[in-house]
Amino acid sequence: MSQQLVDPAARRRVLRVLAGAAAGAATPAFAADTLACAESLLPPAPAQGFLARLRLDGAPITLAARRGTGGAGGGALEYAVRHRGRDYLNPTLVVRQGERVKITLDNRLAVRTNVHWHGIANDTRNDGGVTAPVAPRSRFDYAFEVRNRAGLYWYHPHPHGATAEQVHNGLYGLLEVEDPDDDALRRDLDLVPGVSEFALVVRDTAGARPYVADAAALVHGFLGDAPRVNGVACPATHVATRAYRLRLLNACNARTLLVGFRSGSTPVPFHVIGNDGGLLPAPVQASAAFLGAAERIDVLLDLRNAAVGDVVVLETRAFDPMHADIPDEGAAHAAEHQHDGPTAAEHQGHGAAWPEGTARDLLALRVARRTAYDRTLPRRLAALSPIDTTGARERPLRLGWKSGHWRINDRVYVMGETPIEVARDSTEVWLLRNYHTSMPHAMHLHGFGFEVLERETPPDAVQALAVDARNRVASDLGRKDTVLVWPGESVRIAIRFAMPYPDPQTYLFHCHNLEHGDGGMMLGVRVA
Ligand code: C2O
Ligand code: CU
Repeated sequence: MSQQLVDPAARRRVLRVLAGAAAGAATPAFAADTLACAESLLPPAPAQGFLARLRLDGAPITLAARRGTGGAGGGALEYAVRHRGRDYLNPTLVVRQGERVKITLDNRLAVRTNVHWHGIANDTRNDGGVTAPVAPRSRFDYAFEVRNRAGLYWYHPHPHGATAEQVHNGLYGLLEVEDPDDDALRRDLDLVPGVSEFALVVRDTAGARPYVADAAALVHGFLGDAPRVNGVACPATHVATRAYRLRLLNACNARTLLVGFRSGSTPVPFHVIGNDGGLLPAPVQASAAFLGAAERIDVLLDLRNAAVGDVVVLETRAFDPMHADIPDEGAAHAAEHQHDGPTAAEHQGHGAAWPEGTARDLLALRVARRTAYDRTLPRRLAALSPIDTTGARERPLRLGWKSGHWRINDRVYVMGETPIEVARDSTEVWLLRNYHTSMPHAMHLHGFGFEVLERETPPDAVQALAVDARNRVASDLGRKDTVLVWPGESVRIAIRFAMPYPDPQTYLFHCHNLEHGDGGMMLGVRVA
């Protein structure tokens, strides 16, 4: 190519213009930086071990849930897979749309557990909800066809009342689905998983403390002491002057994040290209995005105008977590119902090491190498039409606190009951209304993706990120399986209940603040 003949400075100017045109915005200023903590390098694309990618290619695997062995994940519990001579811990399972998956859960724990394939359209048997626990020291075969679009899904246990503890203690992993739209994106942008595309699991862990859901945690959700990305505290990675795809999962039990990028003290804009439900119809430029528990966001960060030595930091920014007045009422209620209620000091100490809504650096991207990169972001990412809601039944679902529990429509979960009864192949519009005196709830529906239609009366911080007249934020577009509903806000979602199973199926609708879900902020859904 004649490009090699062009003088590097001129070439850099041309690329700057191209990048500016692609981003539709001014070129961000990059700067050198160091994190406030002692950086450790993220392990580069491991072929085995913790979070390593495991492409199933139709082969069956056995996923052992067992006590932690002190590996890279460092959890008290872990998932282990041995496949084709390699050992994986909490593997990132990679499958194609349409592939048949056969996964045997080998429960080597002394307690019941199971595997919920979060975001995957499944029947009840394979969904791994609270109604299908797997007894201690026994096995269960999951076998299903992956009908979902490409996207970053995940898996975790879902035994009723013990989900929060098991996930916190280390049982979680990613499930990546590929399809032709995703192949096209990778081709167009020259994205290679582990090289220029990274899946990042953000968690907050208890550090040296054991997991204990005290009364304050039951009200607010458990808050860990410090962020970990892919199991690493204060992580950094080396990058080149090109575009990167970062796919984030908020795997915190309860914490909401406000993710963004900065270089020095200057915010760096990025493009949102996908969310829980896969690619958006088109890329959307953003300055920040809220990420509730269990939500995913797929972003593209363009570093082609950075210089060697520049650093871009993925951070969670300060925001008002909006926990209203519930703490006192909640602690009082909780104390009423148990002999050893929280002391004032315990309550005060909740989340003290990292209060929710305070800023933290998550990952340093250190530009270490120049490379030529001239790809442009495609205008269209996927063909996705809005769900037709003509004649759809509207179902109001109120989120609030009463008598010691977070509730949906004033109810707490009762095993075997399905207060939400839906006709198969119907379309419903659910109006998720969160009281002013509440806190944010990350509402998740099993079995069916949905479309966020509108946010009514969002708080200012959400309104500030809105990209359309219906107050939707960039990560609301496309399809979702989890949506964060703020206090005083009503979110309208559309769901099409189409499924290929001949018999009626039951699913769950619940808050993914895991302590809230365990406490009963969950309803059974029956589709018949
Ligand atoms: Cu990710 Cu019902 O859960
Ligand atoms: Cu909640």
